[in-house]
Amino acid sequence: GDGSARIRDLEGRRVLVTAGGTREPLDPVRYIGNRSSGKQGVAIASAARDRGAHVTLIAAHVEVGLPEGVDVVRVETAAELLAATTVAAPENDLTVMAAAVSDYRPVSVSDSKIKKTATGERLTLELVQNPDILATISAGPRDGRLVVGFAAETADTREELLALGRAKIARKGCDFLVVNGVGWSTGFATESNTVLVLDAAGAIVVEASGSKTSVADDILGVFAAALSGAP
Ligand code: CTP
Ligand code: CA
Repeated sequence: GDGSARIRDLEGRRVLVTAGGTREPLDPVRYIGNRSSGKQGVAIASAARDRGAHVTLIAAHVEVGLPEGVDVVRVETAAELLAATTVAAPENDLTVMAAAVSDYRPVSVSDSKIKKTATGERLTLELVQNPDILATISAGPRDGRLVVGFAAETADTREELLALGRAKIARKGCDFLVVNGVGWSTGFATESNTVLVLDAAGAIVVEASGSKTSVADDILGVFAAALSGAP
């Protein structure tokens, strides 16, 4: 609701949010990207600021305006996002990895524009895997600092969505995973969202549905409570 802006449960906390889609260059004019708009991550950064936090937003490609009153670091590739995030995460009480990170990047980037070859000929791109930023920052001692991941999954049923989410949080080692179902027309670039949040044991701690702003507020309430040691 609109009373949420008056909740100051992140006062004195430092919050890091990554948002948007990374882009992996192929040549000077082309890249491999994804359909993330960055809206949910930007909404989380704004909501955390409104709840009193000092917010750092690491923004890959985002299709919405960047919020006022937060420190912004711009990145393009997964490698740049990894570098910025591994430096900033240890300085923050809460890190929310809402960015859509490209799983792969081209083996090599061409210095000149890749030319079309003979008519009708196929082109094969060779890709290598990017490092897993969320797993990297989740590993090792964290002294009470929280790390939250996001997972957009294409699942036909809620059960399947839950199973995918539970397997993913076990792999990543983060404290919470925000899971949402996506398809060709839902999740990305839309105004609203429906998510469920899993804890490290795979239990559902909250379900939130509505505008990306209200979803941001609902899930931040859970993370703020966890930071202050509430059950
Ligand atoms: N993530 C990351 N580094 C990567 C890939 C993903 O930090 N190289 C983070 C995302 O920011 C997100 C979470 O991991 O918070 C889950 O991303 P997702 O793409 O769902 O997970 P993957 O492990 O890449 O699995 P999948 O095969 O389903 O893409
Ligand atoms: Ca992925």
